[in-house]
Amino acid sequence: MPARLEPLLCLMGALWAATDRTQATPPVLGRHTASRRALQQAPAPEAACLQSQALQWAIQEYAPLTMCRGGALQFTWTGIHTLVLVPGPFCPNDWSGPGIVQLSPLGAVPPSGGSYTASMNDTGTLYFACSYSTHCLQGQHVVVNVV
Ligand SMILES: *[C@@H]1O[C@H](CO)[C@@H](O)[C@H](O)[C@H]1NC(C)=O
Repeated sequence: MPARLEPLLCLMGALWAATDRTQATPPVLGRHTASRRALQQAPAPEAACLQSQALQWAIQEYAPLTMCRGGALQFTWTGIHTLVLVPGPFCPNDWSGPGIVQLSPLGAVPPSGGSYTASMNDTGTLYFACSYSTHCLQGQHVVVNVV
């Protein structure tokens, strides 16, 4: 072999080795493996239920809650609100219709706040809403999954 080819062969060898290393540990594969490991370690959604939770009951939007069966959800409010169980994730037109349960209706005038602790008796989905004025339509209702 001519002596002046040796540096060239050496360079080709180095390039080959570099290419080979890149294929052995592509960074994208490394990230993918790491995220899959994190997902496997995350708790199952069913396990993440709340035994006890306090909720400030006001005119605002509420994210769904997951409560444990036997747990307690305490609603506390200031000003004029009611707490009503409704049959589904919507605001009823008729607040005395079927499937409506008045948990905390309007009291003596003027009402000055209140509190109600709802017991999570059974598994299933509960829908709570405020029946006063247009509060429900303004977002004052919450979906509670009991598991
Ligand atoms: C749970 O059961 C009690 C006793 O029967 C009842 O008064 C209460 O309204 C129930 N809770 C809900 C959220 O329905």
